[in-house]
Amino acid sequence: MKIALIGYGYWGPNLAKNLYINKNIEFVGICDQNLTKLKKAKEVYGENIFYTTDYKEIMKDNSIDAVAIAVPTEYSYAIAMDALEVCKHVFIEKPIASTMYRAQKLVDKAREKRLIIHCDHIMIYHPVIRYIKNMIDRGELGNLLYIDITRTNLGPIRKDINAMLDLAVHDIAVINYLAGNPDFRELSAMGEVCYGKQETLTFLNIKYDYFIANIKSSWISPIKERRTVVAGTKKMAIFDDVAIDNKLTIYDKGIDVKSTDEYGEYEVHTRLGDIYIPHISNEDALQNSVTHFCECISNHKESLSGPEQSLKVMKVLEQAMKQLHND
Ligand SMILES: NC(=O)c1ccc[n+]([C@@H]2O[C@H](COP(=O)([O-])OP(=O)(O)OC[C@H]3O[C@@H](n4cnc5c(N)ncnc54)[C@H](O)[C@@H]3O)[C@@H](O)[C@H]2O)c1
Repeated sequence: MKIALIGYGYWGPNLAKNLYINKNIEFVGICDQNLTKLKKAKEVYGENIFYTTDYKEIMKDNSIDAVAIAVPTEYSYAIAMDALEVCKHVFIEKPIASTMYRAQKLVDKAREKRLIIHCDHIMIYHPVIRYIKNMIDRGELGNLLYIDITRTNLGPIRKDINAMLDLAVHDIAVINYLAGNPDFRELSAMGEVCYGKQETLTFLNIKYDYFIANIKSSWISPIKERRTVVAGTKKMAIFDDVAIDNKLTIYDKGIDVKSTDEYGEYEVHTRLGDIYIPHISNEDALQNSVTHFCECISNHKESLSGPEQSLKVMKVLEQAMKQLHND
């Protein structure tokens, strides 16, 4: 399968490396409109692949099966649309688009052309998130009570989208994945611009039928945090993605409610059990995401982070954006 990459800025090099090492992919070329970036790419990949500043060159090459797009979100829509138009499968960096309207147009085009569109909701391909998902599916956590996610750092401050579109997109995708793609009932969003024109700090609360979620996204934190708390009625899990080892801790803790002899009366007890750190394979989430994209192309099946999931994530983001901007 021949794949070319468009965009070799901050994230593109990570994607390039993972395309290059994947044994099912023939990584054929890199496009970036910035010559300095292309020069850097050439230092890594030499004469093995082609380089261009004009992505239309890739569109004209019928031998290329798919493109991976890692340009800022404001430009990715046009490139993805062009790629689908000339029958190339699309791996697109998150968020799939800056608006629901654009996301829907991309999905419609992919479906019309029977092509794979895969949005890189990278965290759902993370081995720790997969592990938690298995625990939930096996009933080990019990019923979900809440999911609380913090994703903060100092920058990078983006100009084309706000912190919520940049960061919470990962977390909404994770919540959807863990909980089986539920529809939300209601949400509330708050944000502060602080610098520039986009919100640099946002808080998002989402109510689903049987649990609630809280997502904090910030580009103005003194420390980098990547923490996900998943609380169930039986056990609770904390995933710290900044930790080098032992990223996941499972707490056999919870609340037990027992009825008493008195009618309608009950007692509430805290339950303190073992704490353990499971061994989890050290797989690379981006490599898993790339591999899944290839499998979807080979097997003609919709990506886990394809049309259905991307639109569900965008639905939450669009509603939250309306609240932020009082639309
Ligand atoms: N999955 C993740 O965890 C993750 C992490 C960081 C960024 N991203 C995503 O990756 C994408 C890119 O982000 P970034 O931080 O690398 O941005 P960036 O600005 O650092 O790099 C973008 C690159 O695209 C190039 N570019 C822009 N328009 C182009 C065009 N029309 N043709 C060719 N090249 C073009 C620019 O010259 C630049 O080198 C965004 O969608 C972002 O959300 C994903």
